[in-house]
Amino acid sequence: MRQFKEDFPLLRQSDLVYLDSAATAQRPDAVLAAEREFYEKYNANPLRGLYELGMEATDRYEAARDCVRDFLHAEDSAEIIFTRNTTESINLVAYSYGLTHLKTGDEILVTIDSHHSNLLPWQMVARQTGATLRYLDCEQDGAYEVKDMMAAVTPQTKLAAVTHVSNVTGRLDPIEAIIRLVHEQGGVVLVDAAQSAPHMPIDVQELDADFLAFSGHKLMAPMGIGVLYGKKALLEDMPPFLSGGEMIDSVSRFDAVYAPLPHKFEAGTVNGGGAVALQAAIEYMEGIGWREINKQEELLTEMAMGEMKRIPGVHLIGSTDPKKHHGIISFTIDDVHPHDIASILDADKIAVRAGHHCAQPLLQHLGVMSTARASIAFYNTEKDIDRFIKSVKEIRRRMGYGE
Ligand code: ALA
Repeated sequence: MRQFKEDFPLLRQSDLVYLDSAATAQRPDAVLAAEREFYEKYNANPLRGLYELGMEATDRYEAARDCVRDFLHAEDSAEIIFTRNTTESINLVAYSYGLTHLKTGDEILVTIDSHHSNLLPWQMVARQTGATLRYLDCEQDGAYEVKDMMAAVTPQTKLAAVTHVSNVTGRLDPIEAIIRLVHEQGGVVLVDAAQSAPHMPIDVQELDADFLAFSGHKLMAPMGIGVLYGKKALLEDMPPFLSGGEMIDSVSRFDAVYAPLPHKFEAGTVNGGGAVALQAAIEYMEGIGWREINKQEELLTEMAMGEMKRIPGVHLIGSTDPKKHHGIISFTIDDVHPHDIASILDADKIAVRAGHHCAQPLLQHLGVMSTARASIAFYNTEKDIDRFIKSVKEIRRRMGYGE
């Protein structure tokens, strides 16, 4: 197996087993260097300075946008809006599109495996517009049935907000089918790609997604840079989400003419360092290649799940097929609260997440209060998995229970 840990300063400087990449990934040297270079060599306020350094900062920022356009296979850079994260991207669509396009009688459809970031904005839109919020429920293994999808999408479905990959089950949702069904009824679809963008190539044109959101920090870029893709015609028709500096053409005492896309949606000083570092992260990942990334992640997931299935008292959430997990393994252990699981693993220098994973409706639907979650990235190693399994095997005994 190829080893990538050496590219990550935090990982190479400690013996930590980091299994929380679904919460946030680690950053490789190339990303940290790109952000540093921006501030060391090109630091001026992008989109403003009419001097050489300012123009250089603008060029770097816009080059990062072009890189994201290519990463998502979007048609036009104007369709790429930089935000802080997935949550802000979804809120942008909820406030700017949802509040202005939906009304009583309309339906908003969300997948039950949605993260709270892709639920709460739609609860707000439903409350404020009178639209009805509906859920598409999954099976116990995280899969969706075609008959349920067909029943959930109605002529009233004006907007569907769907999860691409669940942050609890790791399952890839059948978003192409949902997009097709919603489009047939004249609605639009937003895809939450927070957990898919780090694991697979995304083609927004092939998917025919109307909006798609992801965060840089799960993709090894710094925290505080995120992306909203939107079809140009939709974005052009939407009012700004936040207003203020640099998102205008002109301002008079009581009115303003907004800037064209994408700047209409980027009020205030932008995250120039974050954008160039996101470009570096994309280039780093594409340099390794999706095949290699997926191969590593699948191998490690298969290894971990294969062992976990054999440990008495351990229960895996979602599909039994490791290939359907995208590195995410949520689990429970009989008699042991997930917070205790995480604390015991922490004592062995293993980082996992425990709790409801900001997906409480899904956990309620699956009949669990909370889970522990190990999430694997391509920079993890077989040794990491060995240490994790060794500790998991000991948890019940360390909590005072027999085998
Ligand atoms: N949404 C991130 C997670 O699932 C924070 O851990």
